[in-house]
Amino acid sequence: MDTKELQKQIERRRIFGIISHPDAGKTTLTEKLLLHGGAIREAGTVKARRNSKFATSDWMEIEKQRGISVTSSVMQFEYGGKVISIMDTPGHNDFGEDTYRILTSVDSAVMVIDAAKGIEAQTKKLFAVCRMRGIPVFTFMNKLDREARDPLELLGELEDILGMPATAVTWPIGSGLNFQGIYNILKNEIYLYKEKETLKLDGSGVSDPRLDEVITQFNLKALREEMELLEGAGYPMDEEAVLAGELTPVFFGSALADFGVTAFLEHFLDMSPAPGPRKLADGGSVLPTDPEFSGFIFKIQANMNPAHRDRLAFFRICSGEFTRGMTATLSRTGKPIKLAQSTQLMANERENVETAQAGDIIGIYDTGNFQIGDTLCTGKETIFFEPLPTFPPELFAMVAPKDTMKAKQFHKGVQQLAQEGAIQVYHNEFNEIFIGAVGQLQFEVFQYRLENEYNAPVRMTPQELTVARWVLDADKDKIKASLDSRSKLVFDRFERPLILFANQFTLSYYQEKHPDIKLTEAMDLKDPEK
Ligand code: G4P
Repeated sequence: MDTKELQKQIERRRIFGIISHPDAGKTTLTEKLLLHGGAIREAGTVKARRNSKFATSDWMEIEKQRGISVTSSVMQFEYGGKVISIMDTPGHNDFGEDTYRILTSVDSAVMVIDAAKGIEAQTKKLFAVCRMRGIPVFTFMNKLDREARDPLELLGELEDILGMPATAVTWPIGSGLNFQGIYNILKNEIYLYKEKETLKLDGSGVSDPRLDEVITQFNLKALREEMELLEGAGYPMDEEAVLAGELTPVFFGSALADFGVTAFLEHFLDMSPAPGPRKLADGGSVLPTDPEFSGFIFKIQANMNPAHRDRLAFFRICSGEFTRGMTATLSRTGKPIKLAQSTQLMANERENVETAQAGDIIGIYDTGNFQIGDTLCTGKETIFFEPLPTFPPELFAMVAPKDTMKAKQFHKGVQQLAQEGAIQVYHNEFNEIFIGAVGQLQFEVFQYRLENEYNAPVRMTPQELTVARWVLDADKDKIKASLDSRSKLVFDRFERPLILFANQFTLSYYQEKHPDIKLTEAMDLKDPEK
């Protein structure tokens, strides 16, 4: 492909993830987007796969289902000339560190909010990651066909709770039984819910007298007042601020009724960024049009069959082109690796990928060479992409082999799962091992895999600790002297000290008492020695 063609292909691409609290409607919206893109033919396809997912807590079952979820991990479709990849961010029970990490591979995020509930806990956590990475966030207020909260209040909540100014692109006319449609502010059009008609308004906008005939006085009065308020006190659309992740465009609709979804999709495709430059660890960056191939691994999926140790590494191509069988350098080791087996992570079956390019995500089979955050590249100079962040776990357990004769297998398993990024591993001064996770399933998977893959059954002792902070600069004795019975000192696998606290309250109390000990919530996922 010549540079011009490559540029054209890159500009067509959009990679985004959907973030939401369970039940806000992520699956339903994904499904409607896939339907519009012609990627699926029937509603219910995505859902059917999901529903069977956790019918049993048996690990093989989980893995089997995960096998399916691997193929649906990236859903690609075309719409309006754009090639769109939706990265699946696991929800519900399988919420884990992976969920956060996927957000390091996207160029934008769609935040789905249940308009009856507003911002919920999981949305808040995922949003914080987008904020940290400067990812543009688009908001879809869902379930307007049900009784919803006041739209102005919902908009205000984005700013009050998330600290994110919001600008409305579409606006609801009533909700629930009174739901009559959506006003597209940017296009000055009304979509009527029951009539399924579009009304282009005159220059007076919502003062257009024709509205009196189709919308109830109650709804119309509210709409006109709300538009006046937004004009006076709302944030105007500012596409630069959107791209900088400093302003979120807000859309209203009903994913279930497929209403307001097209308007959302079209504006989203217009405003969301195509793959851009990617930062390097040394401060430089790589342009997607750079002819040399480069990219990084952001997720490693263990094989569903324990008899085969091979794993699937999720790889985001940041520049150049990929061709099957090519050789690239694994930057961490400096060694060449042949990328012979690769797969497209979409559709219903895994297909071998022959070629792919900057702005695509592919799966590369791994026999144990890769780690999360690894860079692969071609070219004379070896490059390193910015390290992926480590997210603070909230659940901790002390772990030990049930059978001391199995200590060797146990340590090998722990080390490998830590490398895979399946779990955080720490140790204390006495070399007792602790693991940390953001979701309970990570623990279950850990226990199951150690027993089944490494033949080392584990004894797990849950800890009454929920907050972890790395210590930036303080000596060990000083840290030790500062601890009490509700905090614990451990070290990560790079020997960096962390303090585990019982809860936020204990943390705040500690910080007040020891202002000289600097703590941080997130750390780069890298070996400081390298
Ligand atoms: P999630 O992936 O974010 O967890 O949410 P999901 O799409 O599974 O939706 C959760 C529930 O909310 C589902 O109902 C779904 O049908 C419903 N829902 C999603 N969008 C809308 C909407 O716009 N309006 C209304 N009224 N409901 C919506 P369920 O009863 O849990 O599942 P199902 O039996 O309908 O499949």
